[in-house]
Formats: sequence, structure tokens, C-alpha cells
Amino acid sequence: MKKLCLVLAVLAFAGSGAFAGSDAEKGKGGGKAALVGIAMPETHVQRWQKDGANLKAAVEKRGLRGDVAYGDADQNQQNRQIQTFLTNGAKLLIVANINDGVAAAIADAARDKVPVIAYDRLIMNSGDYDYYITFNNYKVGQFQGQGIEDGLQLKSATPDNPKYITLFAGSPTDNNAKFFFDGAMSVLNPYVKSGVLKVVGPYPETSADSSKFQQIATENWQAPIAKNRMENLLNADAANVKLDAVLAPNDTLARAIIEACLADAKYAAASGGKLPIITGQDAEFASALSIKNGQQYMTVFKDTNKLAEAAVALAEQIINGNTNPSIPGTVLATGDLTSIGNTGKKTVKAYLLEPIIIKQNNVNVPADAGFYSQQEAAQLK
Ligand code: BGC
Repeated sequence: MKKLCLVLAVLAFAGSGAFAGSDAEKGKGGGKAALVGIAMPETHVQRWQKDGANLKAAVEKRGLRGDVAYGDADQNQQNRQIQTFLTNGAKLLIVANINDGVAAAIADAARDKVPVIAYDRLIMNSGDYDYYITFNNYKVGQFQGQGIEDGLQLKSATPDNPKYITLFAGSPTDNNAKFFFDGAMSVLNPYVKSGVLKVVGPYPETSADSSKFQQIATENWQAPIAKNRMENLLNADAANVKLDAVLAPNDTLARAIIEACLADAKYAAASGGKLPIITGQDAEFASALSIKNGQQYMTVFKDTNKLAEAAVALAEQIINGNTNPSIPGTVLATGDLTSIGNTGKKTVKAYLLEPIIIKQNNVNVPADAGFYSQQEAAQLK
């Protein structure tokens, strides 16, 4: 009797639709559209809020469903969010990870046969996915190096009148941070060697010098950490020199560094209030305004509207069973660039978009590409 009751109860439950198959199993035509899980790393760097919204919109434009979750720079939290996507029957995941602790969640996706696209940040130490889409991040770093080269006129500088620079890098857990730094140092190292440029504070020649790289890195890209380090530098290593430049890896950290400089009375007196040449990346509106007003020197525009669009075009092709997608507006990394997709466990297909260097003379380029609201764009004119 007990058994019969159980069987009846189970049948009733199944009839209620609870076992009627996940949304993803129903696929596109047969009921609800396929679900794409979108896992973004953090909201304290503005771009990710935009990325999340753009990705969801691009997914929905294609008749798929998109769910977005933000990991708050906490990999455990993001892993739980990925689990929820899988439980909800996601057909594909788009993941911008926080650190390589994500590999366990990616392994679960592979077990469930759910393909993963690493978005913007490569997922390291995982052999459980096949696709990566990002910008040419080495070039982003080269642009930052070139910004300093131009801003300090290093090509015509001489060792008897050297320029002083201090170095910051992004999060040591973000593989991109290494590309940015190495790209920048590929431009700056020759000037250090020739004595034209002097590094104040730790000087890793490349990110491979991990103990020195760790000293200049900024855990989880947190602005207060960079601000604090800049304040300390101004009171210690840089106390007796006038800094001519700061290599800052993105706009959020650049503005934190600017704040530290502006708040330092000694620095302001010694430098006549003139800020060092400070680099950035992401073309955040606040930084574009700062460039227009002559504070931040440069940024790098990565059109994340296009990145999201390309990522979703890739997602659609993968969902449709194409194992060799070609994505307009991107270049598939081959030759020397192939290593961009090397996770340490396998080399995934890496699709690259081109970044653009932004200085005062072309500060309107992102606005012209529709990157800011109309109200913001008007403030830059
Ligand atoms: C992204 C940058 C961003 C940084 C901090 C990097 O992985 O490529 O655009 O500024 O993370 O969120």
C-alpha cells in the first residue's frame, strides 16, 4: 500500500510538470527558448555591469533566454551561480571568471555537456572548455606603454635628464593582468635599460618575475588597494623624486591613483600640482572626462558592445552544433597569437577584437561608437 501511494504521488508530481524536462531540453522551437547563463565577475569595475546587460540583450535578441549573475569578486559565489545555471538547464555558459578556482565549476559544466565560452578573461588550468573571446590584451598593454613613451617624449629623452615612473598591475589572479603588463613593458624596458627611464619602487621586467609582480599587483582590481599603495609610495620610495609617470592598468585604478596624488600636499607642492602621465584602460566615462580635462593621460577603448555581440554570435553557432565558428569582427588567434588561448591544460580557440588607444585628441571616439549615453557624450564635446 505504502508503495502504491508513493507511485501515485510520483505520478501526480510528474503530471504537474515538474519532470516535464528542463527548458534547455525543450530547445528553441519546442517550448521555452534555450537558456544561456551569463556569469560576470564583479560590479566594482563599471564595465562588467554594461557587459552583463549587453550580453543579456544580445542573447534575447536572438530569441534565447539570458540570466546574468555577478560574482562580487568571490570565486565561490560565482561557482554557486554557475551551479544554479546548470541546475536550471542552461544550454551554454558565458563566463568572465575571478580566479582559476572556477575550473571546478567548468568541469561540472563539461560533465553536463554544457559548452562554456571564457569571456574577456581566459579560464586557466582547465581543459574542460573550447572557446575564448577577448581583445588583443597584449596590444592593450603596448598602447599603455606607448602612451607613456609619447607623454614623456622618451624617444628624445637622454639619461642625463631621466624620467621617473612607478608601476602598477592588475589582479594577480587575472591572466589578463599579465598580458597588459608585459605589453606595456615591451615598450618601456628598452628605455629603462638605456637609463632614460628610472623605475621608482619594485621593477619586474615582466610578469614572469612573480615575486616583484606580486608587489605591484592589485588584488581583485580593488581601487582602495591601489590608492593606498600610491599614498605609501608618495611617502616612501617616491618621497624625494618628482614622478613623471604611473603605469596604471585600468581606469578604475588610474582614478584612485590620481586621487592619491591630488591629496598629497607634499607631492602637489613639489610638482606644482601637475599630475604624472597616468595610463588606463576601459574608456570609462569618468576617465574620458578626466582625459578631456587634462588629468588622466590616456585610456584604451575596448568596445565591449561589440565583444558582447560577438560572444553571443559565437554562443549561437555553438548551440547550433558548429564546432568551427567564424565570428565577424574578430580574428581567430593563430601563429604567435595562438598561445593567448593556452590555459595550461589545453589551447582553446581564441577570438580577438582590436582595442583603440584614446588620448585627448580622439577622446570622442567611444562616444561616436555609441559607448556613452547621449548626456555623457555631450559633456565630452
Ligand atoms: C578586463 C579589464 C578590466 C579588469 C578589471 C580585466 O580582466 O579585461 O577590462 O578593467 O579586468 O575588472
